[in-house]
Amino acid sequence: MKPPSAADLLHWYDRHRRILPWRAAPGQRAEPYHVWLSEIMLQQTTVATVGPRFSRFLARFPDLAALAEAPWEDVAAEWAGLGYYARARNLHAAARQVVALGGFPVTTQGLAALPGIGPYTAAAIAAIAFNAPVVPLDGNVERVTARIFAVEEALPGAKPRLDALAQGFLADQPARARPGDFTQALFDLGAGICTPRKPACALCPWQKPCQARKLGLAETLPRKAPKPERPTRHGVHFLLTDHEGRIWLRRRPPRGLLGGMLEIPGVSWREEDWTDAEALSDAPLATSWQPVPGEARHVFTHFALTMRLYRASLSARTKRPEGEWLAPAEAAQALPSVMRKLLMLAGLA
Ligand code: ADE
Repeated sequence: MKPPSAADLLHWYDRHRRILPWRAAPGQRAEPYHVWLSEIMLQQTTVATVGPRFSRFLARFPDLAALAEAPWEDVAAEWAGLGYYARARNLHAAARQVVALGGFPVTTQGLAALPGIGPYTAAAIAAIAFNAPVVPLDGNVERVTARIFAVEEALPGAKPRLDALAQGFLADQPARARPGDFTQALFDLGAGICTPRKPACALCPWQKPCQARKLGLAETLPRKAPKPERPTRHGVHFLLTDHEGRIWLRRRPPRGLLGGMLEIPGVSWREEDWTDAEALSDAPLATSWQPVPGEARHVFTHFALTMRLYRASLSARTKRPEGEWLAPAEAAQALPSVMRKLLMLAGLA
């Protein structure tokens, strides 16, 4: 069978590429700061969500120097809701390193030495921002490659093989001439045509050379090995408001999950559920806590969390405990998603 033609894919991309805020216009060079920022945001969040957040982030930190000079609290606040704050911390640290280096490294290897940049992200930035001849293996590229070559071995075991096959696309000269566009063409093909379910094979520029299509396997690939189950943890949180309706928040320790972010104070999250008596005796403050009906759920990479909530309010005469006191609208902006769900449970967001 004919191997897939990079020229066919690029021709399709030139007509059907998605307009995304970090993408350079056809024929223009991509801005490395934009490419890097978008890749870090896209590590954990969908293209649809990243679009507006990317533009907002750029409005606040228009270039690398602005980001490097900004205080961490400002970066963390702007990242709120994008999840996994270690990424924002690494982003900030990397910005400072790149400024110190006098610019971004242009190779996969050099980029991978920066905080927060793993092998995929390094390859994506090298290809898209610097036209390095490399194909980053994200979920889209894995799927397209598994189907084109009808790879039936399951992920994650199949990854090295899929990676080798994907790098093989660069043997075709048009791909080597435009690695950044070729990479993004694979992303767009995977996102819009070669989708996980119901791929639109009739519209695919690589329909003819696709072996999975020929074998009637397209929709079943790539196969995935069963995932280990996520454990559930339980937490109880305490929403204290002052006489003006401001909410008591605390900053989490700088390292670890949601490190350095604000939170609604609570007990530690553990696998055994908390009884009311246990939770109240571990409350960060003794006052007349009232249970809020219902619970909030949040799924992290390694565990699912269910949270219950208690509320209390302070009179004007009571001294407020130390922490940050924000109006509900400000709190909804500054808190990570997991904590915003508690505000919603309380009807405050
Ligand atoms: N996913 C990761 N990087 C992307 C990009 N540059 N364009 C579209 N989707 C992506």
